[in-house]
Amino acid sequence: RPPLKIALLGCGVVGTEVVRLLDEQAADLAARVGAPLELVGIAVRRKDKRREGVPPELLTTDATGLVTRPDVDIVIEVIGGIEPARGLLLDAMKSGKSVVTANKALLAEDGATLFGAAREHGVDIYYEASVAGAIPLLRPLRESLVGDHVHRVMGIVNGTTNYILDKMDTSGSGFSEALEQAQALGYAEADPTADVEGFDAAAKAAILAQLAFHTRVTAADVHREGIADVTSADIASARAMGCVVKLLAICQRVPSDDGRNGRGVSVRVHPVMIPRTHPLANVREAYNAVFVEAQSAGSLMFYGAGAGGAPTASAVLGDLVAVARNRVHGTRGPAESTYADLPVLPMADT
Ligand code: NDP
Ligand code: HSE
Repeated sequence: RPPLKIALLGCGVVGTEVVRLLDEQAADLAARVGAPLELVGIAVRRKDKRREGVPPELLTTDATGLVTRPDVDIVIEVIGGIEPARGLLLDAMKSGKSVVTANKALLAEDGATLFGAAREHGVDIYYEASVAGAIPLLRPLRESLVGDHVHRVMGIVNGTTNYILDKMDTSGSGFSEALEQAQALGYAEADPTADVEGFDAAAKAAILAQLAFHTRVTAADVHREGIADVTSADIASARAMGCVVKLLAICQRVPSDDGRNGRGVSVRVHPVMIPRTHPLANVREAYNAVFVEAQSAGSLMFYGAGAGGAPTASAVLGDLVAVARNRVHGTRGPAESTYADLPVLPMADT
């Protein structure tokens, strides 16, 4: 079979690792997909920036030209932010390309438009890397648990803030020093305010709540409080009480007064004091952990690397293989596009 042609948008922390894995694992990926995957272009802002292991002849600053190239089959977006990412993904889908994205900010702000475009143009949109880095979490919610009734999704979904809180707790680092380390390790967003103020976790909470509860939730629906006001003194007080401070995302159904799941959903992100004996208290550095509670499955825990280039690229590559297989076999993946039609459950305070 002729190669499937891949366009990559963005070549920073995540994109560089995607390029490396596509090259290193080319033979295995071809065998798993049933066709070779050929990277034909990489859109960036600055062509002259040095990028280890990235073929310079593939770089372009013409992202629109790349996503609309007739020979491109699949577009991977790892630029981040709302625009130009949204316009590029819409152009790509309109041109018949399936897309893979790690962009939680965009999905949480305007997922309905993206899912609607995927449905309209008969293409796939996969986004496992947008929540909890390497941890397979969206696909279990999207596929394995779709027949169950999920009550609650709760956990640590931002690696940068967990890294900062962990360093402040265990090595006495100051807030700014720990944030700088998290940035140097490639965990933080381009604007780390998104991490520190809880916007990134709120976007992920919206994506999780939407998948878990089959309703539309956007970032604006999420009650959000970050860790900017958490001081070393707060951490020391928590320690004195046998607790740690963690930034949690808590998404739950709110039962009606008669105990039925009728009143709506509550989606919140804020710092919480957790007893040191709780499993979430032992989630260190940039790791993430998420509990899913479902009626028949019971309680499930997902744990692993929540940020960083290679772990995130692993999730991107997983999506790429899934989308590429669908192209080879002329099939499509789960259609979240239908969420555009679902009623919006009321957001309830708890
Ligand atoms: P970076 O800031 O490291 O990389 C962004 C890339 O996008 C850069 O290569 C940049 O080009 C390119 N870019 C920016 N604007 C444009 C534009 N207008 N046109 C073309 N290219 C552009 O980000 P990350 O790799 O860390 O993150 C990428 C995405 O992945 C984001 O959505 C992020 O939220 C998500 N993500 C990140 C994780 C992480 O741990 N880092 C984990 C999970 C998801 P140039 O290099 O020339 O500046
Ligand atoms: N900035 C994000 C985090 C990247 O720290 O969790 C992973 O989504």
